Amino acid sequence: MGADTTPGYELLYDIIRRRSSIRKLKPDPIPEEYIGKILEAGRWAMSGANSQPWEYIVVKDPQVKKDLFRAYNEVNAEFIYWMEQQRVFELRHPAYQMTAEKAVEQQRRGAGWSEAPALIVVVGDGRRQWGTVQGAHTFGREQSHLTDGLANTCTLMHLAAASLGLATQWVTIHIQEPFKKVLGVPDLMMLYLIIPIGYPAVQPSEGVGMLLEEIVHHDHYDDAKFMSNERVVQYLYELRGKTMQSYRQSYIGKEEPKKN
Ligand SMILES: Cc1cc2nc3c(=O)[nH]c(=O)nc-3n(C[C@H](O)[C@H](O)[C@H](O)COP(=O)(O)O)c2cc1C
Repeated sequence: MGADTTPGYELLYDIIRRRSSIRKLKPDPIPEEYIGKILEAGRWAMSGANSQPWEYIVVKDPQVKKDLFRAYNEVNAEFIYWMEQQRVFELRHPAYQMTAEKAVEQQRRGAGWSEAPALIVVVGDGRRQWGTVQGAHTFGREQSHLTDGLANTCTLMHLAAASLGLATQWVTIHIQEPFKKVLGVPDLMMLYLIIPIGYPAVQPSEGVGMLLEEIVHHDHYDDAKFMSNERVVQYLYELRGKTMQSYRQSYIGKEEPKKN
């Protein structure tokens, strides 16, 4: 097979490009076997020394989903909202560029991902990750093979869901305790991520990516590509300019252009 025919790559790249965060899902049930396929893909992720520190909780019980979503609004989102107030309005995360009153109203009204037919909650066992080299845990060296491995299993599951025509969202958990309580997760475990899964209720956005020429270096680091502090600030403004719209679209769908 010639180098110009790369069907495996095309297939993979198509799935990669088709995946995007969808934050409004249909409540319609999804086939049980699809959840199995997603988990099966996730368990083959790379992890330090193959320690496989992950476990998955599949949540379908409506009350449990509601309880998790309540914890998300009352604790997690509240904390993140407050943290976002520390920076200028335009640089805040798109979900938090609003007044406190609007944020409270939105939280009270919205059912959000609690309506997803299924959630996969990813938990990690830090003890198991000790299978990897000790240097990966050295304090002060900014290494965490635990979260690296967990991120990998999550990415594979997001891609597997996309390959099945399903939509997902990456719901980071910053304050774990209330979620662990709802699910009865042992204290020693880390509650890493909630992945709501379902059929998309809105069209995916096109995706915003940096250009390869901006981020690829050849043989040595090209200093001309090193971003100055000023450039990073400019980049962050530009990024928000681009992602505000795609973020909004992932919640409410594509907006028709306003007619004069
Ligand atoms: C570490 C990490 C944290 C993220 N946290 C959240 C989150 O808490 N909520 C959310 O809706 N999306 C979250 N995302 C998804 C990103 O916002 C999203 O992947 C990014 O904007 C690119 O958009 P796309 O997924 O549509 O391509 C997170 C992604 C990563 C990798």
